[in-house]
Formats: sequence, structure tokens, C-alpha cells
Amino acid sequence: MMPTLAGASALLLFLSQTATVLPAAQGAAGPYTVAQAEAGALSYAAECARCHGSKLQGGFEEPPLAGERFMAKWETQTTHDLLNFIATRMPPQRPGFLGEAQNLELVAFILRSNNIPSGPNPMTRNTAVQIGNKQP
Ligand code: HEC
Repeated sequence: MMPTLAGASALLLFLSQTATVLPAAQGAAGPYTVAQAEAGALSYAAECARCHGSKLQGGFEEPPLAGERFMAKWETQTTHDLLNFIATRMPPQRPGFLGEAQNLELVAFILRSNNIPSGPNPMTRNTAVQIGNKQP
């Protein structure tokens, strides 16, 4: 079957819509590794999901950690800001108890959940990549 023009333009529309939601860290290599995001998913399930939801959708009083609302709040901030927030504020009953490596993995998992791509280099405490495209 010949590809139709309608099919091609639907694909283009899809691609352009996808492109607008993909944030800044795209293009250059992403700021975390797949291994970090995968480890983060496990910590998230154990320590965070009961409040923020298994799909990061948020709870009754807890904000979502993925999607438009999260990005609107964090797109002008850096991965370092997010690490600091988690390290000093989360989980609320025992902030900081998870330690730096685990908190970095949680940041990686949250970034991946917001469609920010991974890259070859692990995130460290010195990584400070802006989370979204918007000018701060
Ligand atoms: C007992 C419930 C609870 C647990 C467990 C919890 N959080 Fe939270 N979290 C909250 C609440 C409530 C807020 C909003 C108030 C605030 O910002 O302090 C919040 C806010 C956040 C924010 C800021 C979201 C925004 O919109 O700015 C991040 C990021 C976050 N949490 C990450 C985590 C991570 C990572 C974990 C697991 C280590 C975790 N939280 C565990 C209740 C929780």
C-alpha cells in the first residue's frame, strides 16, 4: 500500500506534538544513566509511591512528580535544585535518610518519568542541568 499524505501529516503532527513536550536536556546527552533511573524506580516504589502515587500522579495532598504540573514548577530549575529539595525535604518524616546516591537515583527516575532522556554519564552532586526549556 502507498503511504498516504494524510498518514504522513498525521505522523508529522504527532512528531511535532511530541517535540513540544520533550524538555531541554534533550539534544545534548541526558544528565543521568539508565542504571540510575532503574535503581531510582525501586527506591521510589519503596519510599515515595505511597504518597506520590505508583505512577507519580500525586495523591490527595501530595503533588504529582511527573506531567505538566510538575514540569511547570520545575522547568526553570536544575537537577541540582531537585536533588537538594529531595535531600532536605523528602520523605517528610525523615528527610535525608536515604543518602546521596539514592537521592541521585530518585532524581534520575523522576527525570525519566518526565521524558528527559538518559545519557552515558551518571548524575553526580555537581550535575546542574536545567530541567525544562523555559528561560529562568
Ligand atoms: C508522607 C507522604 C510523602 C512521602 C513518603 C514522600 N513525599 Fe514528597 N511530598 C509530600 C508532600 C505533602 C509534598 C508537598 C509539600 C512540600 O513541598 O513539602 C511533597 C513534595 C515533593 C516534591 C516537590 C513536588 C513539587 O511539586 O514541587 C518532590 C520532588 C518530592 N516530594 C519527592 C519525594 C520523593 C523522591 C520521595 C521518596 C523519597 C517522597 N517525596 C516521599 C509527601 C510525601
